[in-house]
Amino acid sequence: MDKLKVAMIGAGGRGQSHIKSIAGAPNIEFVAICDLIEEAGMKVSEEFGVPWVPTIDQLLADYEVDGCGICVPTAYHYDAAMPVIEAGKHLVTEKPMAGSIAQAREMMEKAEAQNLRAVISYQLRFGPVFRKMKEICDQIEPLQVLFARQRAMMNEKYLSPEPFDGIMDFISHDIDMVPFLAGREPKAVFATMGREVWDNLGSISYIGAQIEIGEGPHKTVGVISSSMGGAEVPQRLDVVGRNGVAVATGSDIKFAIGPNPPMGATRDVWTATYAGAARDFTADLYQHWAACCLDPALDLAPAASYRDGYNALLVSLAMVQSGESGEVIDLAEFAAAAG
Ligand SMILES: NC(=O)c1ccc[n+]([C@@H]2O[C@H](COP(=O)([O-])OP(=O)(O)OC[C@H]3O[C@@H](n4cnc5c(N)ncnc54)[C@H](O)[C@@H]3O)[C@@H](O)[C@H]2O)c1
Repeated sequence: MDKLKVAMIGAGGRGQSHIKSIAGAPNIEFVAICDLIEEAGMKVSEEFGVPWVPTIDQLLADYEVDGCGICVPTAYHYDAAMPVIEAGKHLVTEKPMAGSIAQAREMMEKAEAQNLRAVISYQLRFGPVFRKMKEICDQIEPLQVLFARQRAMMNEKYLSPEPFDGIMDFISHDIDMVPFLAGREPKAVFATMGREVWDNLGSISYIGAQIEIGEGPHKTVGVISSSMGGAEVPQRLDVVGRNGVAVATGSDIKFAIGPNPPMGATRDVWTATYAGAARDFTADLYQHWAACCLDPALDLAPAASYRDGYNALLVSLAMVQSGESGEVIDLAEFAAAAG
């Protein structure tokens, strides 16, 4: 089997999960670990038998690499990704895509111009519940998608006033998932949020957002509801479509596909339950990405492209701005204003 030669940039907390996924993928050869910190790089080097390289320039100059995983802190995604893109290498970049809209746009435009397989690590898209929900959504023409996920308090590392921190870090995946299931691009956002409900560090504690998705007479309404105050509340995903409905609660899905029945009539409801739905899907993401890099004819979906990552970043920052200003944010105007 052909193998993609992949190096990992960033050996921190999340990098460990990427490294396991790369090392375990049958279609990937793990060739090097790049981290500024020797201790972090050498730990991986010793465990996986790959060389440690301190800088990205050295990695690209001295090693034969087809693609890179990028798992450095978000503020440095652009600095790490741009040399990789300019060298014509494929990429998996962690979410959120970049520290600013202008940086994300440049990354997307350059990667698209180079025809690279560039994805954002929205690994939830590879979970069995979400894959099944996407399969159903593709048949039922979603008109409304509600994703409600409440969780326990986050680690102090994520509690700051920054727009990517607090509950916004956790729901980065939800913000990608809702337009993904709708199958259309987000257009406008309105949000209400609150800070410092359960901490005194200024972080966003809860947020509720309405996202206008797609165009024409039947736009899709996306709704996100999330907080750090609800560890015992099960996650819930409701989709109402022109041609059916689907509800996922935890690992269980109930769904019906077919025309909306008239008053008094019923339609068959199916159920599906998935075991192991809570594992880390980053391994599935890497194997699929590598397969797409090796075979240009393969469809990158369900992986999130750089364009999807750019849209998710726009929605995320617009949600915070709307939450602060109380205004509806038009995403095209918001993107233009970002330069
Ligand atoms: N997809 C998910 O579910 C998920 C979960 C957690 C974190 N993340 C994302 O993963 C990214 C990394 O987070 P983390 O918690 O692993 O951070 P971290 O601080 O634990 O690790 C980052 C590592 O990158 C290294 N680094 C920084 N700049 C570098 C450079 N220019 N060249 C080489 N190495 C460099 C650091 O030395 C460090 O070892 C963030 O963008 C975060 O949002 C995603």
